[in-house]
Amino acid sequence: MKSTKIYEGSHQWIMFGRDEHKVDKIIDSNQYMVRTATRCLLLDPGGIEIFAAMLSEALHHAPLEQITDLFASHQDPDIISSLGLWDQTLIHAKLYAPTIWEGFIRHYGCESIEYVPIPDEGGTIKLDSVELRLIPAHYLHSSANFHVYDPQAKILMSGDVGAALEAAGAPIFVDKFDAHTEKMRYFHQRWMPSNRAKADWIERVRTLDIDIMAPQHGRMFKGDDVKRFLDWFDALPVGIAV
Ligand SMILES: [Fe+2]
Ligand SMILES: [Fe+2]
Repeated sequence: MKSTKIYEGSHQWIMFGRDEHKVDKIIDSNQYMVRTATRCLLLDPGGIEIFAAMLSEALHHAPLEQITDLFASHQDPDIISSLGLWDQTLIHAKLYAPTIWEGFIRHYGCESIEYVPIPDEGGTIKLDSVELRLIPAHYLHSSANFHVYDPQAKILMSGDVGAALEAAGAPIFVDKFDAHTEKMRYFHQRWMPSNRAKADWIERVRTLDIDIMAPQHGRMFKGDDVKRFLDWFDALPVGIAV
């Protein structure tokens, strides 16, 4: 597992991914950490199979007792099936995750970690002086789904939105946007069920000032590629399985 610092200011953002030991049939995922002076939040900490790699890489950036918070954008196994192992490792941590998924996510194991339910309208996570906004992204693709926006770092962690199915070892940022759309099209058309939800999310996200859009699979988008993504997604019909 590799880790890359993507923002360094009064606090830090670190991206984890490109795990060379990953089994081929498992979709590659990106995990993120927001690190402040005394606390760390792990965003979509990943599947049970990457727990050991993720924990050891996270410990390069923070001591165990400072990993205080977890966030799960939705209930999928690639997002949070590692919960039962984090639960035995971070016994005083909090998990922020959608309200309606609590009864389901707890099946992964959540005895000691405190489940903090996120209401449909969203909310905030405060880490020292950093305030992160939880942006509703329902039906993109899960029926209760949130993204995390950091107004200071201007980063939007966008969960499965912006995901691409990539070969192992792909670069971490999009370089040629038009070519990249071919790696995103099928995923968005098949996994995203609702054009109306998509339009609602785009309207909300266009009001945010974003330098980096950071999805849970594939490459991140930087600068003008963020707007290019929003325009591309806007024009793409989704929910095509019917
Ligand atoms: Fe998902
Ligand atoms: Fe995913």
